[in-house]
Amino acid sequence: METSSLVMEMEFEQSNGNGSTTYLTHNFHTYPAKFIPQIPKSTILQFTKEGDTVLDPFCGCGTTLVEAKLLNRNSIGVDLNPIAVLVSKAKTNKLSDLDITIVEKILNKIKLDVTSYYDNKKVNINYNIPEFNNRDHWFQQNVLHELGIIKAHIQDVNKKELREFLATALSSIVVTVSNQESDTRFAAIDKQIKPFRTFFELKKKLEGMKKVIFIWNKFNGLKEFDKLPELTKIGDLTSLDEDLVTYITIHNILIPNEFKVLAASYPGAQADRVVLVEPGTGRKQKRKYIDIISYLPDKNITAMQENKGEYSKSSIQKEITEISKYNTDKNYKEALKTFQRRFEESSVDSVLKIGVGFWSSPKFSLATIKELDLRNLDYYVYISRDMKKWSIWRTGDIDIFKKNEGEVKLPNIKEIGGSQTAKLEGGF
Ligand SMILES: C[S@@+](CC[C@H](N)C(=O)[O-])C[C@H]1O[C@@H](n2cnc3c(N)ncnc32)[C@H](O)[C@@H]1O
Repeated sequence: METSSLVMEMEFEQSNGNGSTTYLTHNFHTYPAKFIPQIPKSTILQFTKEGDTVLDPFCGCGTTLVEAKLLNRNSIGVDLNPIAVLVSKAKTNKLSDLDITIVEKILNKIKLDVTSYYDNKKVNINYNIPEFNNRDHWFQQNVLHELGIIKAHIQDVNKKELREFLATALSSIVVTVSNQESDTRFAAIDKQIKPFRTFFELKKKLEGMKKVIFIWNKFNGLKEFDKLPELTKIGDLTSLDEDLVTYITIHNILIPNEFKVLAASYPGAQADRVVLVEPGTGRKQKRKYIDIISYLPDKNITAMQENKGEYSKSSIQKEITEISKYNTDKNYKEALKTFQRRFEESSVDSVLKIGVGFWSSPKFSLATIKELDLRNLDYYVYISRDMKKWSIWRTGDIDIFKKNEGEVKLPNIKEIGGSQTAKLEGGF
């Protein structure tokens, strides 16, 4: 499956809850005995490929057709019920964002006429209320007039697809504003539908439907997915932060060099114990511990490392000064020993080596390192700007690492960018 459709699927799932059956246009209109969309979806996936044509000869309200469209299949639907045909069309038609903006204007015109009807019964548009059996048993008079006005305005719309969209909205509210108890209970009851309620039911329904069309239009341009400002952007990694520098050091350098990693600071896994992330803070949570403590039993060396992503010269210098305290400050030294006693007794009397790791930035490259005060540092790990190579410089004379350069190997991870997440509301 292509990444874009995978992402789209995730967005649907997230916005609607797992296993939702009402995403996108599926919720335009109720229909008896309709499929949950997952049924045609899995069948389509199993038996067809992109570009194939799917036929549903009893398509009802078009569930199969919507799923076929989402999966890039052509589709043909047949149904003897004209409402089924109307709804199926509305659910699969292409409407532009511009078409949808016209809905607001039509609603304004309807509202003016409904207002005139209640004020003085003089309505701009010609409308009629059809005769049919038991009409007044099933509908209040005011409702009949509002429905008549709405229908006339819809018939006045030139664009067929927009008419079908509006007519579907109208059809979907009829039971609500009628005297029928509910979709599934067929008794007539006195609902006391107030003036304007019919209009407002329509408006509410159309608002939800409009939102769905806007969303679908964005997804129609699946290739444009990355450009959507309000969606979470997922793309190739463009930068390394300190956690990734930590990851690279552990997995590409320390472990292959036979170091035992005693503690690593990631969000949620700080130093010697797992710390639950403070809700809502994510990576911004305060971290009090150094990034890596590791031990090389062979040479009886404990290495401590602080990491930075793309940082300035001064902030790397700060890291060096901070971590150097393990060499000089009594309390720091004692804290480290306490930790070692608890987790790696054999390392307590080891030789301490301290280092920093960082990712090159345009402002801070290898040449700039010379300007740092490296007296208290034993080594530094440098990751190239293109994130492909790591190398180590030693400032002391002890050979800590067998290998001093290599390729960066990261799992195939994607970067989630932007602070906003998609608001995908299919249902309403
Ligand atoms: C259970 S519904 C299908 C619902 C559909 N799977 C959905 O998810 O919306 C069955 C449909 O078959 C249609 N139908 C029944 N007999 C038909 C016929 N002879 N020709 C065309 N459609 C027919 C009905 O109008 C009804 O819409």
